[in-house]
Amino acid sequence: MTTRDSAPTSVPFLDLQGVNNGLREEFDLAWKSVLDHGHFVGGPEVERFEREFAAYCGTKACIGVANGTDALELILRGLGIGTGDEVIIPTNTFIATAEAVCATGARPRFVDVCADTLLIDPAAAQAAVNSSTAAIIPVHLYGQMVDPEPISAIAAAHGLALIEDAAQAHGARHNGVTAGSVGIAAGFSFYPGKNLGALGDGGAVVTSDLALAETIRSMANHGRCAADRYRHDLSGRNSRLDTLQAALLSAKLPRLDAGNARRASAMAAYREMLPASCRPVSVQAGAQPVYHLAVIEVDDRAAASAALSAAGIGWGVHYPIPCHEQPALAALHQSLAASEKLPVAERAASRILSLPMSPTLSVEQVARVCDVLGGVL
Ligand SMILES: Cc1ncc(COP(=O)(O)O)c(C=O)c1O
Repeated sequence: MTTRDSAPTSVPFLDLQGVNNGLREEFDLAWKSVLDHGHFVGGPEVERFEREFAAYCGTKACIGVANGTDALELILRGLGIGTGDEVIIPTNTFIATAEAVCATGARPRFVDVCADTLLIDPAAAQAAVNSSTAAIIPVHLYGQMVDPEPISAIAAAHGLALIEDAAQAHGARHNGVTAGSVGIAAGFSFYPGKNLGALGDGGAVVTSDLALAETIRSMANHGRCAADRYRHDLSGRNSRLDTLQAALLSAKLPRLDAGNARRASAMAAYREMLPASCRPVSVQAGAQPVYHLAVIEVDDRAAASAALSAAGIGWGVHYPIPCHEQPALAALHQSLAASEKLPVAERAASRILSLPMSPTLSVEQVARVCDVLGGVL
């Protein structure tokens, strides 16, 4: 462990070993129990985790799926969204949000973000609605929920499906409302680095629409009829959460809130110790983020990141290329929105920097990161 005055040691961007090491005994028990009963797909641990995670999110149902991208795609497909439809999404997101839309045959309509939070700008979403719009996907990026009120009002006013991308927001709240419980359904990712991460890929859909839940459950399991496994009523595929990952996730879920609280403490320490030239992304009134990422804005990212690397400190950028400028998606953006610029996201893309963040991050490590940044900016 380092202090401000002692010899520097490295600070990992994400301390996955530290997070998982504390759970070795629980993991051993989970693995043994799955090995004993041998139901490696669709075993009792899947149903148990689905029950627990639905309760955690405050929804009536949860369907474990293979990953977070599939979760979003299956929600869209389950709602009948596809070719000819447009889906509004923020351009500042991981590309998976857009990939899920494209996979259904629908087209993502990228909109700009708010300058302070870098979350979807409701006014921009409102302006993008047209007769082809079928849904809006607010992305609760970096662990902060999008304010549910304005975005729900837009969806209600235009009859659009509101689908939450909660892949980075396990346990986030806004005025007491939990991420995943706002829209018709939400997609979560359990990629290992997420606040609730599996030891491999995993994802879930949560919803309180039980008919939609059954449709998605069937689609994720080859379109099978619940009463007859040899009958396939829907066009489906294999996108199941496997039993072992479900068992591991059940072992981790009781620790999620404590881990999120430790992330919030680390972020508070950053706010206290960062030099004035490093501006953390704002938190909206009423928001209770879970700090999946610790994102700041700086004028000279090249200098800041070089100094961090030289000091053995991990960093990232989320995301350096907004989706509407990604080579795989730019033509799509131009076809829908001509040469529309999304200036807030474009400017932020060259200024944002993600600092180390983990439930295990100590105040001393935060101080070390801040010292290094203070020395260069
Ligand atoms: C905002 C966002 N949406 C969707 C996804 C997709 O999740 P997965 O990687 O599990 O497919 C991720 C994961 O990285 C994400 O960060």
